[in-house]
Amino acid sequence: MNNVVMEAQSPARGDTVMEAKGLVKKFVSGREELRILDGLDLTVSRGQSTTIVGASGSGKSTLLYILGALERPTGGELLFEGQPLLTRSEDELAAWRNRSVGFVFQFHHLLSDFTALENAAMPARLAGRSPEEAESMAKPLLERVGLAERLRHRPGELSGGEQQRVALARALVMEPRLLLADEPTGNLDLKSAEAVGSLIMELVAERGLAAVIVTHNHQLAALADQPLELADGRLR
Ligand SMILES: Nc1ncnc2c1ncn2[C@@H]1O[C@H](COP(=O)(O)OP(=O)(O)OP(=O)(O)O)[C@@H](O)[C@H]1O
Ligand SMILES: [Mg+2]
Repeated sequence: MNNVVMEAQSPARGDTVMEAKGLVKKFVSGREELRILDGLDLTVSRGQSTTIVGASGSGKSTLLYILGALERPTGGELLFEGQPLLTRSEDELAAWRNRSVGFVFQFHHLLSDFTALENAAMPARLAGRSPEEAESMAKPLLERVGLAERLRHRPGELSGGEQQRVALARALVMEPRLLLADEPTGNLDLKSAEAVGSLIMELVAERGLAAVIVTHNHQLAALADQPLELADGRLR
């Protein structure tokens, strides 16, 4: 097997996963043009956590949507494992997202009629796996996030921190390379926030994820390999 193929199959820790170059995002609101991202550069690597803090309205969520190709930038380039993303079709991007990106949001968006196990297995079901196979992928992750005793609970029967752990298991079930989290601890009390924050950092290291985590939590930001601030449309 040649080196190129081997790298594609098992990238090493520290390899670049995602690169954003010169990202620009403008919004037109009335007669005003808002330049939310203004030549932003970012590199995230395997096994590396990047946190982003910044004022409300500075463009943190916008940046995550662009990194997850949920929104297109006005300008700039996105490379995933060296390959341009923005030239791909919406269908290709949807497939890429399901396979390669895990999302965690402030509110977990779990489906209330489904159990923790069914919720965590959902991305695998959407990717065409049988219920049995999808659940066998989700179960070890739920165990890893400390929910071995809560597999059959529905979201309404779980605490906020437990719900967010299910969301984290769901984000990781397809074994994505990239984890994008928008205030994953924003809706939790101090103690749960600390526990979920540390758990995310452990999983990043264990699973060799490249993670971009938007947070207002300075304790969580302090744990990052690459702590950054978004201001004036750029990271510093
Ligand atoms: N679709 C849109 N149309 C016009 N303006 C938008 C749109 N989406 C976002 N904006 C503006 O872009 C700016 C950045 O929004 P964004 O949600 O990225 O901020 P944020 O840093 O995530 O803030 P917060 O910390 O409050 O979540 C805001 O001023 C917002 O009003
Ligand atoms: Mg936001």
